[in-house]
Amino acid sequence: MKSVLIKNIKALYGIINDASIQKKSGTEMSHLDSIENAYLIIKDGIITDFGSMNSLPEISLPSIDANNGYVLPSFIDSHTHIVFAKSREEEFVMRIKGKSYEEIAAAGGGILNSARKLQAMSEDELFESAKARLFEVISNGTGAIEIKSGYGLTVEDELKMLRVIKRLKAISPITIKATFLGAHAIPTEFKQNREAYINLVINEMLPKISAENLAEYCDVFCDQGFFTVDETERILIAAKQYGLKAKIHGNELGYTGGVQIAVKHQAISVDHLEYTGEAEITSLKNGNTMPVGLPNCSFFLGIPYAPGRQIIDAGLPFCLASDYNPGSSPNGRMSFVVSLACTQMKLTPEEAINATTINGAYALELSHTHGSITKGKLGNIIITKPIPSLAFIPYSFGVDMIDKVIIAGVEIN
Ligand code: NIG
Ligand code: FE
Repeated sequence: MKSVLIKNIKALYGIINDASIQKKSGTEMSHLDSIENAYLIIKDGIITDFGSMNSLPEISLPSIDANNGYVLPSFIDSHTHIVFAKSREEEFVMRIKGKSYEEIAAAGGGILNSARKLQAMSEDELFESAKARLFEVISNGTGAIEIKSGYGLTVEDELKMLRVIKRLKAISPITIKATFLGAHAIPTEFKQNREAYINLVINEMLPKISAENLAEYCDVFCDQGFFTVDETERILIAAKQYGLKAKIHGNELGYTGGVQIAVKHQAISVDHLEYTGEAEITSLKNGNTMPVGLPNCSFFLGIPYAPGRQIIDAGLPFCLASDYNPGSSPNGRMSFVVSLACTQMKLTPEEAINATTINGAYALELSHTHGSITKGKLGNIIITKPIPSLAFIPYSFGVDMIDKVIIAGVEIN
């Protein structure tokens, strides 16, 4: 069933009639256009019509009764690391007992722990576990996703991760974008010779990834204890020569210049932003880089939240993503991200929905096909249970308000 009529929608939210709108900024983010008592028509996977039930046209299509649930565009999760080998709850317990994320990383845990486990796992096993996570988040309402490498940290293992992502693309009902994150951490054997690892990323990994067409973007963990601004810049310049645009991990652990270097290199997005002040906001205003907050990570690690409220109040766009990964966010549920954005960053429900739909689409260069209820875009939607209001979604944190998920007109079970 790629064509479907959805009727008896309590309210159809996330309508953007102007298909040229790619993102929402500042006060625009508080507007989430809607039609009450609505219908929506998806034909051959594409949204072709919507309106009030009073003007429902005569058509014969298979239909779904929304039963007075709300309909929203699917979430876009623009930042994940769902290809990984094992969970890391032992580090979670170490943090409860007082160790910090950075201390654990400096002692060879964290990303390096995940890398050792991933290096020991076959491509097939990685594929199966990542596939299960992919379908888990689809059932939770994610309608397009970005997946990063970065737990390989050797030429072969980074390629292995990216090949897994390529295989996921081939079987996925939702669009996947792949990001190369070879510069996620300096492997232990290169600790005394960082330069050699950066050269490996630039001279060996990037050419092979490009030759196999394995990634759309290049990411660097530009932060204290990880990669410097200068190292980040070198990697981004090299990646650009292979046609990879930048998406940066920046300012999670300090005011490290990650935002400024991302903007300077016209990164599509700069993500984390727990340490964002006036200088970072000014820099963002001088570019088109999407700021992305990852509130799950702040919740789980007990670090500050990105100042989403101040970023929006400065007139900027703001996006939210799950950062689903075994270290800092072992959860990919976008509805929980929306709840945290409301309770901790003081975004309104409308702002948080825009941040996880149209602005997520911008952060993956998918605004032409995803992120809103717009004629001509993909019919990727969420139908909620019968709930009293839109705000009930973030209000009922941790509980799933989704009744049905439809991807390109097909109901996903
Ligand atoms: O986005 N901060 C860098 N990378 C991931 C965490 C990786 C890990 O701890 O495994 C993040 O939080
Ligand atoms: Fe991340």
